[in-house]
Amino acid sequence: MSPIEDLLAFLSDSPTPYHAVASVVTRLEAASFRALTEKEPWEELLPGRYYVSHEGSALVAFVVPEGEIRGFRIIGAHTDSPNLRLKPRPEYTKEGYLQLGVEVYGGALLNSWLDRDLSLAGRALVRTANGPEARLVRMDRPRLRVPQLAIHLDREVNEKGLVLNKQEHLAPVLGLRSSGEVAIKALVADALGVPAEDIAHLDLMLHDSLPPAQGGAHEELLFAARLDNLAMCHAATSALVKAAAGDGVGAGRTAPMIALFDHEEVGSQSATGAESHFLPRVLERLSRRRGRSFDAHARALASSLCLSADMAHAVHPNYESRHEPRHKPALNGGPVLKENAQQRYATSARTATLVEELCRTLDIPLQHYVNRTDLPCGSTIGPITSTLLGVATADVGNPMLSMHSCRELAGVHDHAMMERLMTGFFAVPG
Ligand code: CO
Repeated sequence: MSPIEDLLAFLSDSPTPYHAVASVVTRLEAASFRALTEKEPWEELLPGRYYVSHEGSALVAFVVPEGEIRGFRIIGAHTDSPNLRLKPRPEYTKEGYLQLGVEVYGGALLNSWLDRDLSLAGRALVRTANGPEARLVRMDRPRLRVPQLAIHLDREVNEKGLVLNKQEHLAPVLGLRSSGEVAIKALVADALGVPAEDIAHLDLMLHDSLPPAQGGAHEELLFAARLDNLAMCHAATSALVKAAAGDGVGAGRTAPMIALFDHEEVGSQSATGAESHFLPRVLERLSRRRGRSFDAHARALASSLCLSADMAHAVHPNYESRHEPRHKPALNGGPVLKENAQQRYATSARTATLVEELCRTLDIPLQHYVNRTDLPCGSTIGPITSTLLGVATADVGNPMLSMHSCRELAGVHDHAMMERLMTGFFAVPG
């Protein structure tokens, strides 16, 4: 399977952060990575390939080299994407329709959720003899729709723009009252094959039921949901699998690692977010294995590097004035290095040089991005993890359009280039 075919399968299989982590785990286990839990002792951990997930939506995977770890090579990305999520008691009826109450998650482009054939996925906590158990849920067929108001009832919408009230205008229609009562728990119980009374709690979100596709005149484009940031989760996972199989791994006694976090789109402050203690604890437990001192850990961190990988803004042909004149990344023009003097990106002159040298050595074209000075800059997990850990970090990502839309657009050829850059990054000696 080509990297792009595998990416399309990954995107299809991952409508929620929980599914994304499960998709990553499938690929890691196929490459002989072993599951660890945070509750078991890691003190005597042998050299090898491991992963540990936190609450099913964040994951850290790594290769432990022989002897003392002299530094980490961390690639960070996020598993979540902006979307609409069901409220705790979602069902209600109005004007003869069955509807669901939704909350907007992250900075979603609200209009992009209108008039699409939507479905539901997420996880359910199911009561079992051993206590509540989290199960992945997914309904594939189109089930829901957020219908836009007809133009005849909103004559000025094309001239004045569409204004959507998050509470009033985004509730999807799930059906008609005349066809009978519908309880979401019953639908989920049906999908899981368990009695409805065993469903304790639900965490469900909406997704577009249309599968991702390759398009464009020469198949050079990628049309898909959640490219931000599942494309980078996929590239990082593939690079780690490749690095683990390669010869030079651990030769400089550095540990290649990926850290995939949830809740980036809502500020990263959660037990599964980049601001949590999940990654710092994993790092400390690894470098202090076999009775090593805190000093050994501090030295490992001082010799570590992090690539914060999150999608970047390609120049938009219809809005080229929104871009900084000399920093306009092109689709299929190669990975993008992001810099920001306000530290919304973590790249420094030193880490920029590292990425530039890597790209030069590997013959990968590199593009540069900086925001227009009169527009506020977005951010990534890069500044957060570098603040927490003090690890030298560079912010990179592949160029894309329609960021945070229900359906986004990227170039097909950038993906393999990013995978190569990431594989090269893992091999940077200590
Ligand atoms: Co992002």
